Amino acid sequence: MKDNIILIGFMGCGKTSVGIRLSYAMKQTMIDTDKWIERKQKMTISEIFASQGEEAFRQMEKQCLAELIEKENGRIISTGGGLPVREENHALLKELGRVYYLKVSPEKVYERLKNDTTRPLLQTKDPQARIRELLAYREPFYEKCADEIIEVSDLSFEEIIAQIVKKEKNIG
Ligand code: S3P
Repeated sequence: MKDNIILIGFMGCGKTSVGIRLSYAMKQTMIDTDKWIERKQKMTISEIFASQGEEAFRQMEKQCLAELIEKENGRIISTGGGLPVREENHALLKELGRVYYLKVSPEKVYERLKNDTTRPLLQTKDPQARIRELLAYREPFYEKCADEIIEVSDLSFEEIIAQIVKKEKNIG
């Protein structure tokens, strides 16, 4: 198993924001799978969904994990919210490092993302219902592949980071 810290969880749970701050706290480089894919494809996530569809994007996520396993170690890796929903990715995530699930409530997600236009899956008439539905469906997948679960809805970024740093110290 590689020695990376992996952040998983639903859109808007704070994976990227936590990842950036954690990378400062731990003095480790951060990699974001969405950014990695956008750079490789030279397109935004919305453009990839519109031109090639979700399934093509999911294949890119899997490819991204395989390449990260080959090339990266000692990194903070934040992942797209749908990546753990593919069971075939669970073994890859485990191989890549320790998986932290940032668990968030649907209300918090809506509050954070109600004006967001960059998440293709939430561009619907009733994003609130969509968030509730998708989150309920995905919850078991997130829980299944997590090594650690952190309830983040009522925590500040600093508190989340403190919890992860503490757990990492206990491991190290
Ligand atoms: C997705 C989450 C997004 C991005 C894409 C699909 C999802 O990432 O990968 O829009 O299926 O939940 P974030 O979780 O960083 O928003």
